[in-house]
Amino acid sequence: MAGAVTSTEHDLNIADLLAANIGDDRDPYSRYEVARGEAAVQRVNHLGADVVMVYSYEHASTVLRDQERFSARINGKWMRPLLGRTILEMDDREHFVHRRLIGHAFRPSIVGKWEDGLIRPTVAGLLDKIATQGHAEMVREFTWQMPVRVFASILGVPSVDYARWQQWAIDLERAAIDRPRGKKASEEVRRYFEAVVAERRQAPSDDLISDLVAAEIEGERLPDDVLHGFLRLLVPAGAATTYRLMGNLMLALLSDPPQLEAVRADRSLVPEAVEEALRWEAPVQFAVRECLVDTSLGDVDIPAGAAVTACLGAANRDPRRFPDPDRYDVRRTDKQHLTHMAFGDGVHRCLGEHLARLEATVALNMILDRFDSLELDPDGFDAHVQGYAFRSPNAVPIRFEAA
Ligand code: HEM
Repeated sequence: MAGAVTSTEHDLNIADLLAANIGDDRDPYSRYEVARGEAAVQRVNHLGADVVMVYSYEHASTVLRDQERFSARINGKWMRPLLGRTILEMDDREHFVHRRLIGHAFRPSIVGKWEDGLIRPTVAGLLDKIATQGHAEMVREFTWQMPVRVFASILGVPSVDYARWQQWAIDLERAAIDRPRGKKASEEVRRYFEAVVAERRQAPSDDLISDLVAAEIEGERLPDDVLHGFLRLLVPAGAATTYRLMGNLMLALLSDPPQLEAVRADRSLVPEAVEEALRWEAPVQFAVRECLVDTSLGDVDIPAGAAVTACLGAANRDPRRFPDPDRYDVRRTDKQHLTHMAFGDGVHRCLGEHLARLEATVALNMILDRFDSLELDPDGFDAHVQGYAFRSPNAVPIRFEAA
């Protein structure tokens, strides 16, 4: 621990983030490797429940793609009381029509338009604050601050609310271990968005909430519970996942200076570095489905009604898919890393993937432009990726010379 950490306008409570990660689990991958060696599909106790855990890339992909056998409705069991009805629990046609309605706002062509007017100025503003310091703790001062600002602007909510959003995102994410706090955050988010939605109904503006308020499915407006479910899902999805990717990306490169310098010298490697970070450390480790029929996967019989968990982190390190899977390598020539499962697979594949990618790519390029002699601060925190259900470092202390 050292003096490299500075306070910011919103002090991040590391204990909260640690809790959201569900512990300081530094290396689940050795366990995954052992488990995968025993059997790619196994019955296990996972977070207190009996589930079928899937460790291989091939079977994880089947679980997420085969809608005839595996349903997303199980997500409603724990999410609905917190977030309301969201597309994450919908199947088949219902999912298709809702996803089409909200998905258009996150297509690459739309997302690309946010680069110059929104993402670059947001990154520049945050880097300006730290550029003169010569050192920074990037989780508190950058990765945690940036996605929430971008996302709030896309939705069209005022800047004064960033700090509240960040706290809600943490509380919703850690609801599995602190239900009352999650519930309280959920109620506050609903009240908050009720007021914003009412305003946009009166006076539509050029933002995502106005679009959603005006959206129609087969001539009908989005029902209020679905509208609010979607908005509530976006608070943790938009704020609390991308920062994990950026922390993992920065730590991977800073821990391997030759690769960092290779990326600095050849910026065509930046997208590769981002994609490889997603493969190497999946920020979201699990996606759960409910088995609809008696079936089997691998050598395991699975009864209808069973919970089946695709372990995305294990799938991303499956040696049958990715050679030398534990190595972070920005020069993977076989390009298999581009098929990682960090954003899931099948119809529920992450809606925000293009935005998350763009934010990380722009941020890394701008950090390399602004900071020379960039390195991990040897006097800083013991920086490491950690977590069980969600994974990222809780601190990335850096030293640099401003360019
Ligand atoms: C690096 C950042 C991100 C990661 C690793 C990530 C991961 C995931 C994963 C694994 C799923 C699939 C869950 C499942 O199949 O059960 C998912 C779905 C989803 N994500 Fe992301 N996400 C990220 C960023 C975002 C952002 C920025 C947004 C906001 C726009 C977002 C919105 C969503 C939504 C709405 C879904 C549900 C899609 C559906 O059910 O059709 N995500 N995400």
